Amino acid sequence: MNVLILGSGGREHTFAWKLAQSKQLENLYIAPGNAGTAQCGTNVAISATDFDAIKNLVWEKSIDLVLVGPEDPLVKGVHDYFLQDEVLREIPVIGPKKDGAQLEGSKDFSKQFMFRHGVPTAKYKSFTKDNIHEGAAFIDSLEAPYVLKADGLAAGKGVLIINDKDEAKHELQNMILNAKFGEAGNTVVIEEFLKGIELSVFVLTDGNSYKILPSAKDYKRIGVGDTGLNTGGMGAVSPVPFADEAFIKKVEEKIVKPTINGLLKDGIDYRGFIFIGLMNCDGEPSVIEYNCRMGDPETEVVIPRIESDFLDLLQGVATQTLHKKQFSVTPDIATTVVLVSGGYPEDYEKNKVVTGLDAVKDSHIFHSGTAFKNEEVVTNGGRVFAVTSFGKTIEEAVAKSFAAAETVSYDGKYYRSDIGKDLMNWKG
Ligand code: AMP
Ligand code: GLY
Repeated sequence: MNVLILGSGGREHTFAWKLAQSKQLENLYIAPGNAGTAQCGTNVAISATDFDAIKNLVWEKSIDLVLVGPEDPLVKGVHDYFLQDEVLREIPVIGPKKDGAQLEGSKDFSKQFMFRHGVPTAKYKSFTKDNIHEGAAFIDSLEAPYVLKADGLAAGKGVLIINDKDEAKHELQNMILNAKFGEAGNTVVIEEFLKGIELSVFVLTDGNSYKILPSAKDYKRIGVGDTGLNTGGMGAVSPVPFADEAFIKKVEEKIVKPTINGLLKDGIDYRGFIFIGLMNCDGEPSVIEYNCRMGDPETEVVIPRIESDFLDLLQGVATQTLHKKQFSVTPDIATTVVLVSGGYPEDYEKNKVVTGLDAVKDSHIFHSGTAFKNEEVVTNGGRVFAVTSFGKTIEEAVAKSFAAAETVSYDGKYYRSDIGKDLMNWKG
């Protein structure tokens, strides 16, 4: 089979690395890819949202299956574009259509969906300029801290958690009337704050059946001890010690099944990944958010733990035969440590020459933001690499990731030295 992956980060490199191991794979293309994906297939310099260029590529390279990495092309309707085209119609796209992608593309949509289908989540109310005058009273009815979310995609920055009531009321005005997050904040969801420990559960579905992939925990903030600005993710661990079999069973019964059935009832034919951001509140799962794709860097620990042929699973999604597919996961623990550019998540420089990659033997280095310049690997993004390692314990795995992180070198390199620390010796 000829496969095309859309995207250019660590998630896409991990997909490419895993697909390259499949006996069923003939040719792999990644658009646009990075210096890492180029080791697994052929990079093509087109954007993941340039649908016309993607169409030409699919035609030219006789692509049999398209795997979409990021949310942007999905929310913009890449899958719908394929279905509306006479030539592309028959080529399966892994990733939901526009309607399903709204689970991530609109917080208001996803909250309504959860309430409609009985999926546990925080109490909420949505506001626009038409009912903004009711916002203050709703904030008054909640206990601090207050959670304000821009409805639309805001590159992970559209969520405010505010302790002060007056500040929360002010920010609501700021989001709706002063477009603090642009159009994404025309509608604002205000919700109850959930206390607990966060984790992510990933589901692959063909619209009828599903597989629950390994769970993971990511580390969102830039600084040690989970301090400082939010990032795309600074590291991840899979599995999550507090997400034992009994907890995952609860997630399956209370969240996964109602979600899959809810999509069916709503007439949404969803084929792809569902990333469920959860709070474990005293043993009870509650949904914080849905994403319509895999997480990054969670993919870098979740996918390497899957022992089954990943392309075979994707074909199961494409042909709605996922229930017949073999699926197994290693019990070993995977950790990933993300190496970023100095300054990230604020301004940072690119084009720093990277050395030491070949000296890493005990870990997988997934490229997040790299490019080739004069045949050398250079930095090309805020997050540069995700260094994934395996172990029987978190300590063992993460020690390998840190050793590799020290071996790789470029100007301005930074990583969090406490990935996994909170989960070591977990006793609940
Ligand atoms: P989201 O973009 O919805 O994932 O929100 C970003 C982050 O804000 C989440 O990963 C949580 O850490 C936090 N968060 C969002 N909603 C809530 C909530 N209702 N209660 C507590 N924390 C939340
Ligand atoms: N690591 C969080 C995300 O991919 O959204």
